[in-house]
Amino acid sequence: MKTAALAFIFIFCAYCAWGEAPKESCVTCHSAMEGKLSEAVKIFGGDVHAQVGLGCSDCHGGDRNDDTMDSMSKAKGFRGAPKKAQIPEFCGRCHSDATYMRHFNPKVRTDELSEYVTSVHGKRLKQGDQNVATCVDCHGVHNILQVSDTRSPVYPTNVANTCARCHSDAEKMKQYKIPFDQVGKYQKSVHAKAMADGDLSAPTCTTCHGSHGATPPGVDSVANVCGTCHVFFAQLFDKSPHKVVFTNMGLPGCVQCHSNHAIVVPGDEFVGVTPKSVCVNCHFEGDTGYNTAKAISDNLSALTSALARAESSLGAAERSGMEVSTPKLELANAHEALIKARVNVHTFSDVEVKKFTDQGVAIAKKSDEAGIAALKERDYRRKGLGFSLVFIVIAIAGLYMKIRQMESPPDS
Ligand code: HEC
Ligand code: HEC
Ligand code: HEC
Ligand code: HEC
Ligand code: HEC
Ligand code: HEC
Ligand code: HEC
Ligand code: HEC
Ligand code: HEC
Repeated sequence: MKTAALAFIFIFCAYCAWGEAPKESCVTCHSAMEGKLSEAVKIFGGDVHAQVGLGCSDCHGGDRNDDTMDSMSKAKGFRGAPKKAQIPEFCGRCHSDATYMRHFNPKVRTDELSEYVTSVHGKRLKQGDQNVATCVDCHGVHNILQVSDTRSPVYPTNVANTCARCHSDAEKMKQYKIPFDQVGKYQKSVHAKAMADGDLSAPTCTTCHGSHGATPPGVDSVANVCGTCHVFFAQLFDKSPHKVVFTNMGLPGCVQCHSNHAIVVPGDEFVGVTPKSVCVNCHFEGDTGYNTAKAISDNLSALTSALARAESSLGAAERSGMEVSTPKLELANAHEALIKARVNVHTFSDVEVKKFTDQGVAIAKKSDEAGIAALKERDYRRKGLGFSLVFIVIAIAGLYMKIRQMESPPDS
């Protein structure tokens, strides 16, 4: 009896809920309209808000059960469509309300609006600038997707194109006197390449600039963002003589040598005293920096040429069938030393770099010697083989003569 009553209540409630949900006067009336007034209805089905059960009136207010124009009256709490300057608060009404948001997702962030107001976009919007990005410029409207959706305009691989809509627009950027080349430069960088190869840990625009705030959380300035990923480089740089002088001169750290957007894979020619080196931008013949740059470059070349020699002799030995797997394995340690030496360029001390290049050169020399020994051994064996061949030929010839002698009729 009790279960029957419960079942009845359950079915009744389910019926109510089912009967209630489709009632959305806003959708019914707007879908019968044209142009902008019906566009929202057409695309809203895929919107994350629709998927969590929210409807038009949850954002716009009004009465979804009233199918007259009165549903959109102030008296019924209708907010209308927000003007550009009102959008952050319009979205933030829910997104900054932790209690409300946690009904949907206990781990949701609610700092988007408070962060946004600290960004250049947010500050300029407050001053009445209509060109900056608000929530809908980055996320869209009526077709807002989950940020983890690969089609979302804020999905890592799409971010640069989203920013490009304004930041690559010369006309839009003219009045601000800032360049409009960031996206073009970034697209050619080692970071964009890594991202295109599927490495989502590589930075895109918002990784360095923050998604909502002026900088990502935990970074005091965009110029210092590199250290969040390249930790070891930052530690060496911080202990180097440049840290203090760059800070005092107000120069950004890593960016001073690597640039910010068009970061390429640097080669050994990045350090030294040739025109390709970054050091000669600031150091001149005779000063300590110049001499150090030259010494570091010489150390690195000593190791790279020792490596090249070892590789060439081991390669030749291997091609002629000699067993050189052990010295080849050891040579990997010399390569390792080169990688460490390149990282330690960031001490900007030739003594520090030399510690690693000396290690590498010693290993490479041993490997080279092993290669040369193997080649000698090969020559020796070839000579040996030559001698044995001569002996065999002589023996066969002798045998042949003997047989001929035996076969020919004896002289009578
Ligand atoms: C009976 C038809 C009808 C119903 C029901 C209706 N609308 Fe509208 N809506 C219109 C028309 C017509 C306009 C354009 C004229 C105007 O701005 O008043 C409009 C305009 C709007 C606008 C743009 C207003 C602006 O500020 O530019 C929004 C937003 C909107 N409706 C949302 C809603 C929501 C939310 C509901 C449900 C609570 C709803 N509408 C219900 C007919 C309707
Ligand atoms: C997540 C919040 C949200 C939801 C849900 C939402 N809207 Fe909107 N709507 C907005 C925002 C924000 C704008 C202003 C966009 C802009 O200015 O670029 C807007 C603008 C509009 C406009 C004015 C369009 C124009 O270009 O003048 C209409 C009409 C409208 N919405 C109708 C609807 C209808 C109908 C629904 C339900 C199917 C709906 N909206 C659901 C946030 C929402
Ligand atoms: C300049 C572009 C940009 C603007 C403006 C922007 N967002 Fe975002 N938003 C992003 C990016 C990129 C992500 C995804 C990366 C991340 O999780 O930090 C994101 C993520 C989100 C998320 C997912 C949760 C989270 O915080 O990671 C929400 C919710 C969100 N934004 C809401 C908003 C609201 C509300 C506004 C306006 C106050 C806004 N966004 C303005 C770019 C933007
Ligand atoms: C009526 C309250 C409400 C309003 C207003 C609102 N949202 Fe949402 N939004 C939500 C809820 C609830 C979710 C789902 C949260 C979840 O599941 O993590 C959500 C999800 C999102 C997500 C996906 C977050 C993720 O984790 O991927 C984005 C992006 C987003 N909203 C942006 C906006 C933008 C932009 C606006 C303004 C145009 C806006 N929202 C207005 C309630 C709202
Ligand atoms: C709707 C257009 C628009 C979009 C989209 C947009 N921005 Fe902006 N952004 C602006 C405008 C306008 C300024 C103001 C320029 C200024 O004051 O220097 C600005 C300023 C900035 C600044 C500060 C520049 C300075 O002066 O130092 C940064 C950084 C920035 N945007 C990054 C981004 C990133 C990253 C994205 C993409 C996630 C993005 N913006 C998307 C329009 C946009
Ligand atoms: C690896 C980190 C990094 C990435 C990725 C990055 N930026 Fe920057 N960006 C910087 C740094 C550092 C500055 C210089 C800031 C300073 O001097 O305080 C800067 C400066 C800017 C400025 C100010 C104007 C200028 O050119 O100096 C804008 C606008 C900007 N970036 C937009 C973008 C956009 C759009 C993208 C994506 C295509 C992007 N950034 C990607 C680090 C980055
Ligand atoms: C979000 C993490 C992240 C941030 C922030 C970041 N990088 Fe990178 N960086 C990477 C990844 C991932 C790669 C590609 C994989 C690799 O080669 O290490 C890379 C590659 C590089 C390379 C080429 C290394 C090589 O040997 O190929 C340089 C140089 C570089 N980054 C410098 C910088 C500078 C300078 C900054 C700050 C303006 C910066 N990075 C900010 C993650 C980051
Ligand atoms: C004074 C100039 C200078 C500064 C400042 C600088 N670097 Fe470098 N960086 C170099 C040079 C030169 C190389 C090339 C070393 C080589 O390949 O021989 C390099 C190479 C790199 C590489 C690639 C290493 C490799 O294995 O090829 C990365 C990554 C890198 N730097 C990151 C950083 C980061 C992060 C910072 C800031 C903490 C920074 N650099 C500051 C000059 C600089
Ligand atoms: C942006 C300018 C700039 C670049 C690029 C630069 N330096 Fe410096 N460096 C300085 C300044 C300024 C000082 C402090 C004044 C001085 O001693 O010359 C300094 C100091 C030094 C010192 C300490 C000198 C001493 O007297 O103790 C060394 C060593 C050094 N730099 C090496 C290098 C090397 C190697 C490179 C290239 C990888 C390089 N620097 C690139 C500006 C730069």
